[in-house]
Amino acid sequence: MTFTKALLEWYQNNFRDLPWRKTNDPYLIWISEVILQQTRISQGLGYYSRFIERFPSVGDLARAEEEEVLKTWQGLGYYSRARNLHAAAKEIIENHNGIIPDNYERLLQLKGIGEYTAAAIASIAYNHPFPVVDGNVLRFLSRYFGIRLPVDTISGKNKIREKMLLHIDKKQAGMFNQAVMEFGSLQCKPVKPDCGKCLLNKKCLAFLEGTVEQLPIKSKPKKQKTRYFYYFAIIWEKEKGKKFLYLRKREEKDVWKNLYDFPMIERSEEISEEDLFSSSEWGKIIREDKFRLIFQSHQYKHILTHQIIFAMFYIVQLAGRRKPRLPYLLVPVEEIKKYPVPRLIEEFLNEKMVSF
Ligand code: ADE
Repeated sequence: MTFTKALLEWYQNNFRDLPWRKTNDPYLIWISEVILQQTRISQGLGYYSRFIERFPSVGDLARAEEEEVLKTWQGLGYYSRARNLHAAAKEIIENHNGIIPDNYERLLQLKGIGEYTAAAIASIAYNHPFPVVDGNVLRFLSRYFGIRLPVDTISGKNKIREKMLLHIDKKQAGMFNQAVMEFGSLQCKPVKPDCGKCLLNKKCLAFLEGTVEQLPIKSKPKKQKTRYFYYFAIIWEKEKGKKFLYLRKREEKDVWKNLYDFPMIERSEEISEEDLFSSSEWGKIIREDKFRLIFQSHQYKHILTHQIIFAMFYIVQLAGRRKPRLPYLLVPVEEIKKYPVPRLIEEFLNEKMVSF
């Protein structure tokens, strides 16, 4: 049996029954694929159903406020994906009569749609024979075909894409693509795959050569940047029981663009509390106001793709009742949950909100 036929047959018997597999609607497929680039299926399911309930069609997404889109995305990370989804939905309404293009090249021109997503939509929704190349495909095919080029380089990826093109079933491109990804995910696992029970082991070069654990090869990991964030949750008690907190919208070109966090000071190295509160940045944040430090958190470690953020949170209560004039957004404590925040901030709020 050919590689293609064996995979398609395996898929028929083993595929997971997922909501986005019951539809040809390109919008639903697009949303599911972008979410799955961000998280595992188990977590992705909840995000997917919330997202499409809130924005059931491309028009609903285009008409939404960006803040609501970010709020729905909250916790998934990599928020540019959500901003791009929103921007692309607007483009589709404005320039494509509200219809998601069925053409790979035109899909590629939409904001945030790269080769993977364009191929996934073109093949799964419209059955055009464009191969998808994601992490599962890279791992599975580099092992099966014994490809030793690093898969995180253009030449490595191209080699895998060539293999996909060679074997893709032109009549069932969407099914073939999903079968390869599903096989990579369920059978050809990253660690300790059960090769003894694999239906492809007689032709799998890595299995025959004993190199399964070595593949896929990656070029040297990029060095991670370490950042230290010192956050100030500044509370103003207008009157008894009526508390406000300062939020800051992150507008700079950096992680978490357009999400909210707190006034903060960033350093590339750790600094003492004394240095922190005598720094000129703290002077600029707090201005002339008198304050009391009421809580200092433990250090949070937050890992992103190319950076590690160590964060400390200081809860600071302003002493006066007079309205302070700090250059941030003053939000009643009970309304904080309406704002889209990074997961790090959400974690802190979940732990400490009760004490505000
Ligand atoms: N991973 C991401 N998208 C997928 C799909 N459509 N099928 C299987 N695995 C996937």
